[in-house]
Amino acid sequence: MCGIVAYISRDLEKRDKIEDMLISSLRRLTYRGYDSWGIGFKGNNKIHIIKNVGDIENVNKLNLGFENSLIGIAHTRWATHGGVTKINAHPHLCCKKEIAVVHNGIIENYKELKEELIKNGHSFISETDTEVIPHLIEEKYKLCNNFEIAFKEAIKELKGSFAIVAIHKDFDGIACYRNGAPLVIGISSNGYFVSSDVVAFLNYTKKAIYLDDEEVAILKRNERDIELKIWKNEKEVKKEIKEISWNFEEATKLGYKHFMIKEIIEQPESIRNALMQNEKEMLEVAMEILRAKQVIFTACGTSRYAAIIGRYLFSKVARKFCDVIMASEFHYFSDSVDKDTLVIAVSQSGETADVLFGIKKAKENGAKIFSIVNVMNSTLARLSDKVIYTNAGPEICVAATKSFTNQLVVLYLLAYSMVNKFEEARSNIRKIAEIIKKSIEENNKNIEEIARKVKDKDHFYYIGRGINFAMANEGALKLKEISYIHAEGMPAGELKHGTIALIEKNTPVVVIAPKDYTYYETLSNAMETKARGAFVIGVTDYAHDVFDAIIEIPKVEEIFYPLVTIAPLQLLSYYVAVERGLNPDKPRNLAKSVTVK
Ligand code: M6R
Repeated sequence: MCGIVAYISRDLEKRDKIEDMLISSLRRLTYRGYDSWGIGFKGNNKIHIIKNVGDIENVNKLNLGFENSLIGIAHTRWATHGGVTKINAHPHLCCKKEIAVVHNGIIENYKELKEELIKNGHSFISETDTEVIPHLIEEKYKLCNNFEIAFKEAIKELKGSFAIVAIHKDFDGIACYRNGAPLVIGISSNGYFVSSDVVAFLNYTKKAIYLDDEEVAILKRNERDIELKIWKNEKEVKKEIKEISWNFEEATKLGYKHFMIKEIIEQPESIRNALMQNEKEMLEVAMEILRAKQVIFTACGTSRYAAIIGRYLFSKVARKFCDVIMASEFHYFSDSVDKDTLVIAVSQSGETADVLFGIKKAKENGAKIFSIVNVMNSTLARLSDKVIYTNAGPEICVAATKSFTNQLVVLYLLAYSMVNKFEEARSNIRKIAEIIKKSIEENNKNIEEIARKVKDKDHFYYIGRGINFAMANEGALKLKEISYIHAEGMPAGELKHGTIALIEKNTPVVVIAPKDYTYYETLSNAMETKARGAFVIGVTDYAHDVFDAIIEIPKVEEIFYPLVTIAPLQLLSYYVAVERGLNPDKPRNLAKSVTVK
C-alpha cells in the first residue's frame, strides 16, 4: 500500500543530498506495492513537485536543483480513490500551491469535505480523497496564518484510517498525523525521517519513535537543530526512542535475482531465529491458551493459513479446540466475543487493517489479545496483551515465504508448550531446519523442470487433507499471486462435491501427500482426478503410480511435514512465475502491507 517518506535536515553544513535520499528511500518502499510516485521539496520560497506513474527504479536523478533543500516529502501510491494517473499521484497541493501533502489510508468523509471546500471557492484537480487535506489546511490557515495550528485544526475534521505528512512553503518543518496507518520517525545524525516503514531509512539509522493513533508530530528546524514535539488530544506526550533490531543488509538482495528466491533459501536460518523464544514466556502463553474458554485465531491471507495449521496442531498435540476466522469477517462475529475469549492474531506486518479492526472490536468486548507478529513495534504488537515475535527479519517480496514458515515454528512451539514439551519441539525443529536446507538444494532443478512443463496452464488445483489442507491453500495462493494463474486449494475430500467438474485433460492437480495419517485417503482423491485426465503432481516422500510428476519431500516425524512441504510449494510458484517472464517480487495489484480495509 502507499508508502510515505519525509526528511528534514538537521544541519546546513552536514546535510545529505535530499533528492538522492528521498529517491533511494522511496525505492526501498516499493516492495509494499505501488503504481505511481511523487516527491515534493521546500525551496526558494516555493513547493516543488515531481510525480509520475510507473516505475521509480529507472529514475536515477531528478536534477531539479533541489539537492540543497532541507525539507522534502515523498510517496509511493497504491491507487484506491481514482485511477493510476500522474494527477492522482501524491504529493497533492492546495489552491495556492503553498501546502503539499502525502497520505496513506482513506479519508472516509472526503466527499462532504470536498463539497464544503468547493463552496468556499477551492478547486480540485484529482479524483483522490487525499486532495481535500491540503485544501482543508489552507482553509484553516486563512483564519490563523499559522501552519502548525492550521494542520492541527484540519486533522480534527478528517474521518477514516490514515497517516499524513504535510509541508508549507513558509514553515521550516514537517507536520505529521497518525490515525490508523503506521508512521514512524527515524532519528539519524544529520536529520529526521518520517515514514510508513523503517525499511525506508534503515541504512541511515536504527533509532526510531513509533507514533500511536491520534498523535500529531511537529518537526521544526531552529538555529542549529530540529525540535520534535508530539501531542495526543492537545496534550504533549513524551515518547521512547526504540532501537530497530533489523539490519539494512537483510533488506537487500545480496546477489540473488529476486527477493523471493533469497527469502525461500534463507528459511533454514530464519527457522533457527524463530526458535529463539523464551521457554518460560512460551509456557505462560500456552497455559493461558489452554485455560481460555474460547480461543479464536484471526488473520488474513498466508497468515490465516498458518493459523489454520496452528488450529490442527493445538488440537492434535494438546487437544485444544479453537476456531480460525478470517480477519475481514471477524467483527461480524463480535456478538460472540467476550471477556472469556482469547484472540490470537497472526500477521507478518502487524499493520493489516482488517486484523487491527477486528482485534480493536474484540478488545472493546473485553477479549484478551495475543499476537504472533514479525515486524517489531508494529501496531498489532503494541495493541496486544502478549506478543510472540516470529523473528523472520525483513521480508521484502510481496509473497510471504519465510514469515509463513516462522509463524508455523511459533505455532509448533506453542502447541508443544501446552503439553510441556517445548524443548523437545525446539530440538526437533532445529534438526528439521538442516533437512530443509538439503531438500531445497536437491529439489531446485526438478521443480524448475516441472514448472517449465506446466507454466502455460490456465487452472491449477491443490489438494490435501487434515493439516495438509491449509498447505494446499497456501500453495495455491502463492501460485496465483505471482504467476496470475487461477489456482484453488481445497480439502481433497471436498473436490468431488463440485470442483471435480472442472478437471479436464492435463489440468495440473498438486497433491500434498506426505506419508502421514492422510496419505491413502488423499491418494484416492488424486486417483479420481487422474481418472478425469488430470496431470497429477505429488508433493510426497512416498511415490505412487498415480503421480505424473513428483516433488520429493524429506521424511520427518508425521506432525512436522508442513515444515518440509512449504519450500517446494514456494519454489514451484517461483519458477512458474519466472518461466512466464514475471517479476515475483512485485505482483500486479498487490501490496505487502494491506493498510486499508
Ligand atoms: O502482514 P500480514 O501477514 O497480516 O498480511 C496478510 C496478507 O495480506 C498476506 O499474507 C498476503 O496474503 C500475502 N501476499 C501472501 O503471500
